[in-house]
Amino acid sequence: MTKSKVTINQLFAKKQAGEKLAMLTCYDYSSALIMSQSEVELILVGDSAAMVMHGENSTLPIDTQTMAQHVRAVSKGAPNKFIIGDMPFLSYRKSLDENMQAVELLMKAGAHAIKLEGVAGNETLIKHIVESGIPVMGHLGLTPQSVNQFGGFKVQGKSADDQARIIEEAKTLESLGCFSVVLECVPDELTQELVKHTNMITIGIGAGAAVDGQVLVLQDMLGYSSTFSPKFLRRYLNTEQLFLNAFNAYVKDVKEKKYPDESEQY
Ligand code: KIV
Repeated sequence: MTKSKVTINQLFAKKQAGEKLAMLTCYDYSSALIMSQSEVELILVGDSAAMVMHGENSTLPIDTQTMAQHVRAVSKGAPNKFIIGDMPFLSYRKSLDENMQAVELLMKAGAHAIKLEGVAGNETLIKHIVESGIPVMGHLGLTPQSVNQFGGFKVQGKSADDQARIIEEAKTLESLGCFSVVLECVPDELTQELVKHTNMITIGIGAGAAVDGQVLVLQDMLGYSSTFSPKFLRRYLNTEQLFLNAFNAYVKDVKEKKYPDESEQY
């Protein structure tokens, strides 16, 4: 059964009512079809697709066309969810015209909002996107597109200076019109302070419990890999083992000539 459509107004109403929001990433039609029947409110078609769908070791290699294809597939499977299209590395660091072409591709593929990382240098673009009627989600803390500057996927905002900077960045995002911000891998004490200074919908991943909602990468929370184990990750399924069991049961049936049986033939 398809649930009714999630709107930005409902998201703010839930925040106001103190109801936590649940966001997951999703990249493909089949998963989106299942997610559409769940209580998940927001779907992020994240550039983490580069890593979990395409096997890259960072989010940098994915381009806007590929992201738009993922957004299109997800929007066909889960049109009832609030879908955020992630702007890939450098796609929003060009001329305003080129940046807006990237935004247009994601929105016309079916996104209801876009997300981009960081603040410095993005101010004019964020304002322009918001003034074009498009909700913008920011992303602060561990912004994976800056992995080479950070020297790895490391917790951010540990020092008092960094914490003060990140809080200022959040205030700037709000003043530019962002409706929401993702906080990634920052200490809980920073999150607790930051949420006091913003009316944006705060969504965390490895950012503690003080945020309005949480996001996890689908493949991580479904346990596709037993080796990727950041502290914040809770696995809700052991997909790796379930898949292996199914693959091996199938192989056994084929080898033992048990599949197909008579009822499975024409
Ligand atoms: O691309 C992504 O999956 C993300 C989340 C980790 C927030 O940006």
